Amino acid sequence: MRQSGVASAAPTCFERQRETLPRLVSTADSAPPVAPYDDIAEWYADCIRAGSAIHEVVIPCLRRLAGPVAGLRVLDLGCGEGIASRAFAAAGARVVGVDISRRLLDLARAAERRSPQDIRYVLGDAERLSQLSDGSFEGAVSSLALADVCDLRAAVQALARVLRPGGWFVFAINHPCGPVSAGDGRLAHAARDYFEEGFWRTPNPSSVRGRVGAYHRPLSSYLNALLAAGFVLERSLEPPATEAVARLARGYERVPVVLAMRWRRPEV
Ligand SMILES: C[S@@+](CC[C@H](N)C(=O)[O-])C[C@H]1O[C@@H](n2cnc3c(N)ncnc32)[C@H](O)[C@@H]1O
Repeated sequence: MRQSGVASAAPTCFERQRETLPRLVSTADSAPPVAPYDDIAEWYADCIRAGSAIHEVVIPCLRRLAGPVAGLRVLDLGCGEGIASRAFAAAGARVVGVDISRRLLDLARAAERRSPQDIRYVLGDAERLSQLSDGSFEGAVSSLALADVCDLRAAVQALARVLRPGGWFVFAINHPCGPVSAGDGRLAHAARDYFEEGFWRTPNPSSVRGRVGAYHRPLSSYLNALLAAGFVLERSLEPPATEAVARLARGYERVPVVLAMRWRRPEV
């Protein structure tokens, strides 16, 4: 689906980058299975628990955007094996993690049994959140999961329903305007065309995005989905690559890596 585009004689920044960077494979013919992380759950959890460079950027950024959370009911949308749930619970939040991957949730619950933090993990679809009541959370967080959700608009509508009026939402995603690590030391674009929404995966089978892919969306799709659901933008961060992230691909320190935002559901 082509979203937008301004005709202009001069190439855009994205077009200039596209000339010089290898492209990732956008595979419209290989739509993702419903819960693709089920197939890589143990591997994905092992990667995170061995020390994930990108999470070392994302989790502090989400914590900074959320501010004090002690005593608040916080939803972790697309919680996976629970890295953000544990971080927010450690800061005093009463966390419910929701994910569509049964096997990742098994690993999250096993971690909870080993080190109890009173986190509740729920198998559910972010596009509906049918297990959760209206207005049941003061805040919500999502770590690197919105680009995995097929229907973003449905997910943010469902989120608006389960947040209480005045509730906040902080999320982080791989920056939709920047190239990503192709997993081989190079940067590559996630899409053939920045303006085209679609499912893509890297050709590198040893990377997360090579194994499960993701949905590329222009920045405006994220903004407009949240605005359409009634959210108000409060703050945005574009944290630069840490040394560990910069080591993943040449040039990573000069491009945006993560986009993080704080939104609020208005009181009325
Ligand atoms: C890149 S992982 C991120 C997991 C975790 N938040 C983290 O930071 O490691 C994306 C997660 O989104 C979940 N996901 C994708 N689509 C979903 C949906 N419709 N509803 C709930 N979870 C979903 C996947 O199962 C996966 O756990």
